[in-house]
Amino acid sequence: MKVLILPDEGAAILRAADIVARTVAAQPKAVLGLATGGTMLPLYEELARRHREEGLSFAGVTSFNLDEYIGLAPDHPCSYHHYMEKAFFSHVDIDRARAHLPKGDAPDPQAASEAYEALIADAGGIDLQLLGIGQNGHIGFNEPTASLGSRTRIKTLTQSTRRANQRYFASFEDTPQYAITTGVATILESRKCLLIATGAAKARAVRQMVEGPVSAVCPASALQLHARATVVLDEEAAAELTLRDYYETVHPRGQDSVFD
Ligand code: PGA
Repeated sequence: MKVLILPDEGAAILRAADIVARTVAAQPKAVLGLATGGTMLPLYEELARRHREEGLSFAGVTSFNLDEYIGLAPDHPCSYHHYMEKAFFSHVDIDRARAHLPKGDAPDPQAASEAYEALIADAGGIDLQLLGIGQNGHIGFNEPTASLGSRTRIKTLTQSTRRANQRYFASFEDTPQYAITTGVATILESRKCLLIATGAAKARAVRQMVEGPVSAVCPASALQLHARATVVLDEEAAAELTLRDYYETVHPRGQDSVFD
């Protein structure tokens, strides 16, 4: 796992944006795996800025989001469809016909999950998968004890995830309990993974992901099995790493190593 530690959130976001921009510039028809959540908002803002001011184009890109709440229509203000539209799609030149999210309002969410997994395979798989991490170590909505061999399916959200997401809804009761999420195995099949974590609240999960045992108790730890996973952290999120001096020796200030 490549662990890049940047001095603060702003620097971490710029570093992550460089990695995304480099992928899209090298591969204009890249298949991107996209994520939602608070961590990603400044990243989308920076990518939109580069589109506007520097000509970074997403016109050839295909995208697949990690997850969507079950029961929310795409135009629901708390759906991830709406989040993506507002935070990213409406600011860049991506073709909406190739910008996919799971259909949370499908009458048969299990069938919709299987269709989504097949759609990713039909697109040739994901070139670069963006990921956040939950305080409980989830990636996508793969909650602790999710099978490391899982595929896109329905997941029940933990109370802690619902509480973390409650800020976007009117009340805890209004916060959805079920989601469609791509699986851990779906994520591991991506050719590259880029996980971003910022802030002290993520420090414990980050330690478990990078230095803990590979365990379904921390689904993000499955990234230890991925040959091309990069983790971009700010100092707060890196605070509990015991081998921090090693990561900083390999990647001083989060920059490329001499052999990259
Ligand atoms: P956050 O969510 O960026 O809002 O912290 C990340 C996640 O739960 O995966």
